[in-house]
Amino acid sequence: MEINLIKTLKSTSIPKNIPHPFLLLPLFPYLRLPMERQKIPTGDGSSTIFLPELNECYHSRFGAVTESMHVFIHAGFDLAITGKDKISLFEMGSGTGLNIWLTCCSAIKKGISVDYTALEPFPPDPDEILSLNYTKESEPGEKKVFEEILHAPSNIKTQICKGFTLHKISQTLEKVSLKEHYFDLVYFDAFGPEVQPELWTPELFGMIGKSMKPEGILVTYSAKGTVKQALRNSGFRIERLPGPPGKRHMVRGIKQSSD
Ligand SMILES: C[S@@+](CC[C@H](N)C(=O)[O-])C[C@H]1O[C@@H](n2cnc3c(N)ncnc32)[C@H](O)[C@@H]1O
Repeated sequence: MEINLIKTLKSTSIPKNIPHPFLLLPLFPYLRLPMERQKIPTGDGSSTIFLPELNECYHSRFGAVTESMHVFIHAGFDLAITGKDKISLFEMGSGTGLNIWLTCCSAIKKGISVDYTALEPFPPDPDEILSLNYTKESEPGEKKVFEEILHAPSNIKTQICKGFTLHKISQTLEKVSLKEHYFDLVYFDAFGPEVQPELWTPELFGMIGKSMKPEGILVTYSAKGTVKQALRNSGFRIERLPGPPGKRHMVRGIKQSSD
């Protein structure tokens, strides 16, 4: 299949001055074409996307929705809204939009306004996301919210529902430019540090830290030693918390007051 694709691309005549798609591949080393994608069920009955070439999933195999609720909603959102009626949130790697949707549903129930910035340079195809059936057992209102999230345009702030705005940014973490001292909460949901070590560095955590308010909260599912050290080195106080099913620990970082 890969050979056929190469033959097809080689034989396709491409106008001068437009880079051949294969010349762009080194810019996206983890996205080598064709990358097989499989929909797989997880332990709680919700599905996720598995990338066999990376041996990596978008969510935990022990439960996609369970992991998102545990790491991002309960350990992050629920703490960040304490004493507030409005928060600003940044998600690194919004993928299928599951975290955006769970946050929006939670915010509606709790009467919290959210200004959500979602970074995702390689969004999955909407049909692939819909096939994961995240909203199968949800109320019609929640299903509508998911569709609004899915179809929200990139690079412009959109109102998804009353009190919830979404700004999707189609850019990589390495290149994005974020407002300083802006975010109350960060969901750090990159592929694992073994797969994309270049994203779990003190430099990039430092850049994210600059975009956060003092005492802002960052949550992530990885509690690897190098991740905790990189967060400490970039100005976070670390809390190791019990992890979701299948993981002993997760990490919450609190942005310390001085930059
Ligand atoms: C673990 S998945 C995120 C799952 C997602 N939060 C969800 O709920 O579906 C990691 C995401 O990071 C994105 N990603 C990969 N490289 C990136 C980069 N350099 N900058 C920002 N995002 C990146 C991937 O495209 C993928 O969607």
